[in-house]
Amino acid sequence: MHDAGRELAGRLRVGGTRQLAPSGTVTPTRTYLSMLTGSFSSPAAGNPTGVMMEAAYRALALDARYLNCEVAPEHLGDAVKGARAMGWAGFNLSIPHKVAVLDHLDRLAASAAIIGAVNCVLITSEGELVGENTDGQGFVTALRGVANPAGAAMVILGAGGAARAIAVETAMAGASSITIVNRDRARGQALVDVLVHQTPAEATLVLWEGAYGVAVGTDILVNATPVGLSPDVAATPDVDLASLMPEMIVADVVPNPPQTALLGTARERGCTTLDGLGMLVYQGAIGIHLWTGLNANTEVMRDALERQFRV
Ligand SMILES: NC(=O)c1ccc[n+]([C@@H]2O[C@H](COP(=O)([O-])OP(=O)(O)OC[C@H]3O[C@@H](n4cnc5c(N)ncnc54)[C@H](OP(=O)(O)O)[C@@H]3O)[C@@H](O)[C@H]2O)c1
Repeated sequence: MHDAGRELAGRLRVGGTRQLAPSGTVTPTRTYLSMLTGSFSSPAAGNPTGVMMEAAYRALALDARYLNCEVAPEHLGDAVKGARAMGWAGFNLSIPHKVAVLDHLDRLAASAAIIGAVNCVLITSEGELVGENTDGQGFVTALRGVANPAGAAMVILGAGGAARAIAVETAMAGASSITIVNRDRARGQALVDVLVHQTPAEATLVLWEGAYGVAVGTDILVNATPVGLSPDVAATPDVDLASLMPEMIVADVVPNPPQTALLGTARERGCTTLDGLGMLVYQGAIGIHLWTGLNANTEVMRDALERQFRV
C-alpha cells in the first residue's frame, strides 16, 4: 500500500472522520474535502468509467469523486498541473493522452516505461507524479481467473496501445512465447522488438494478410484490435475460426458489447473465453489500490458497467 494512499484513505473514510455529535451537529473532526480522482481524455463524453469508479468508492464508504474531464491535447499539461495543484490523488488517461502524458511526469513504473504509455497516474503526498500502465495488469489479473500466464504460448491480434500493454505484462508474468499478428509491419515489428529486447519472452511477428490460422499449441489468443466494438457488433477479426481448439483460451479486449461475435464462436467451439469487461474493471481496481491502498469490490464495479452498456 502506498503511504500517501493509506493516509488519504484513512482520512476520507466515511464513518471514520464524519461523526455526528449526539445533538446532531457535526463534530469538529468532520472534513468537507473529498478525495479527487478522474480521467482526462478527448472525446470524454462517451466514457462510462466514472460510473464504475464511483460505485467502487461508495462500496468502500470512501468520500471520493471520479471526474470525467474533457481535455484537449493542447491543455494536457495544464490539466496535469491543475490536478497536482488541487491535491488530486491521481487520474487516468485515455485517448489521445496515454503517450503525450509522459512529458509531464516525474517517474515511470517499470512496465509503463517498457510499454511507453501511461493510463494511470499516482500523485504522491510530496506531489510527485508517477506513471503506471494498469491496462496490461488488468488483463493479467482477469487472465489469472482462468489460467496461469507462466509458460503460455500467446497470440495477440493487433499491435496498438492495448496490445502493447497486454504483451509486455503477460511477458513479465512469464508467458514463454508471444506471436504478434498485425497488418502494419512497422507497428508490429516495433512491439516485437520491445518484447525481445526488454522482456524474457520470445516474440515473432506475423504479417496479417487474409484469414489468420491460429497455430496448434497456442494457449491464449487475444483480440487486441477494435474489431467487434459497438456499433459494429457483428464484425469478427479475420481469423480462421476453424483453427480455434477447445483447449485454447480466447480473450477479447472489446468491452462493449462484452460478448463479442468472436467470443460467441469461440465458446461454440469449446474454448474458454474472457471478455473485455474484466480487463476494464481490474485496471480500475488497480488504480484505486494505487491511490488509496484499498481493494475495491470488482463485482460492484462490473455490475455498474454492465448496466451502462445495457442502456
Ligand atoms: N478492456 C479494456 O480495458 C481496454 C483497454 C484499452 C483498450 N481497449 C480496447 O482495445 C481496442 C484497441 O485499442 P488500442 O488503444 O490498442 O487502439 P490502437 O492503438 O489504435 O491500435 C489498434 C490496433 O488494431 C489494429 N486494427 C484496427 N482495425 C483493424 C482491423 N479491421 N483488422 C485488423 N486489425 C485492426 C491496428 O492494426 P494496424 O497497426 O495494422 O493499423 C492496431 O494494431 C479498442 O477496442 C479499445 O476499446 C480495451
